[in-house]
Amino acid sequence: MENIQLSIEKALGFISKEKLASYEPKVRACMETLEKGTGLGNDFLGWLHLPSSITQEHLNDLKATANVLRENCEVVVVAGIGGSYLGARAVIEALSNSLAWLSEKKAGQPVILFAGNNISEDYLYELTEYLKDKKFGVINISKSGTTTETALAFRLLKEQCEKQRGKEMARKVIVAITDAKKGAARITADKEGYKSFIIPDNVGGRFSVLTPVGLLPIAVAGFDIEQLINGARDMETVCANENIMENPAALYAAIRNELYQTGKKIEILVNFQPKLHYFMEWWKQLYGESEGKDHKGIYPSSVDFSTDLHSMGQWIQEGERSIYETVVSIESPEYELRVPTDEENLDGLNFLAGKRVDEINKMAELGTQLAHVDGGVPNMRISVPKLDEYYLGQLIYFFEKACGISGYILDINPFNQPGVEAYKKNMFALLNKPGYEEASKAIQARLTK
Ligand code: PA5
Repeated sequence: MENIQLSIEKALGFISKEKLASYEPKVRACMETLEKGTGLGNDFLGWLHLPSSITQEHLNDLKATANVLRENCEVVVVAGIGGSYLGARAVIEALSNSLAWLSEKKAGQPVILFAGNNISEDYLYELTEYLKDKKFGVINISKSGTTTETALAFRLLKEQCEKQRGKEMARKVIVAITDAKKGAARITADKEGYKSFIIPDNVGGRFSVLTPVGLLPIAVAGFDIEQLINGARDMETVCANENIMENPAALYAAIRNELYQTGKKIEILVNFQPKLHYFMEWWKQLYGESEGKDHKGIYPSSVDFSTDLHSMGQWIQEGERSIYETVVSIESPEYELRVPTDEENLDGLNFLAGKRVDEINKMAELGTQLAHVDGGVPNMRISVPKLDEYYLGQLIYFFEKACGISGYILDINPFNQPGVEAYKKNMFALLNKPGYEEASKAIQARLTK
């Protein structure tokens, strides 16, 4: 079986091979720190050997629970935010038919929807309206069990599910994925008798896609979680290699840090396959929340090409030279579609007649890469043989391992997220949450100044 491949040639015009080679001892040390668990955030390293430690029994339990939801639901709503939903959404959208949302809603192949990732009254209203005549179930995902966005959506969905489907069926089609002991989601799950799965203590949200957080929704959507784990497991082996030139995670981590040192402060993750849109969102959270600390860190951004070549393309080609690109390229599409010949040729496209659409897409990719490199944008390319569970598993583990190494090269704690608390504290103070009295007074004084 082939692996995903990282090509760095188009970045090497911007950093020297010698400079890159000088990262070798640092990268090795960072890998050792991860392995030995001697670095910052070492109580959150459960993801490191997760793929190789997942048991068949655990996967069978997840698949059996997924089947209960599949058999009894036309729609399954996944409630979660940040690391508690992005991984599942990334994989499900990458593997689903692009028009799946238009298909008939039926038990056996439920449609997956997402909630609890915003506080939009309109979104929640429209969702609850939509669900009114649907046999729906809910997967409530929250490690802390107290996240406002998710708890709020779950309160609405639980009540609606119980009213529509009856208490007994609701108990069958609501599943909780949360902490083993603490948090409101755990208390509710135990009291109501929901089937529940545990998010391991030592796996942080953004590294949790290969725990039940990602695996259950992906299995409910009908995708092969064993193949996803197989891909991740194979990448775990590849990314253990101490030779930086043979370890794509180590190489990627080293190059992005060197580019950062040369003033490339923004990484743009690029796809030419819109199904990867949410994969990029997952990646942005992984890198943004892991590295944006101590007033340091590459700003992770993303574009969907060729769509965004007609919006962001100008900026990338000629704007401030503080960017580099990493392209995730899918080598073989799932289907075949060729450009037809047209006798009149009014659109002038007969020069493409007989070509596959993907061939045109690939030339757009190559043309863009050359233009951007000419314009001063370093480019890395990750080639993915096929968009399937196995290769998504590889990509996930590759990016996770690279993130751990890269964060340690940057000399920050890649596994905490203290900055996320600031908005919550203000929001709770403004909403007069019990326990926030002092903060409420302070914020009111600040606002009335
Ligand atoms: O990566 C993280 O830790 C965060 O993005 C969390 O996943 C997110 O804040 C949701 O937290 P919780 O699962 O506790 O509801």
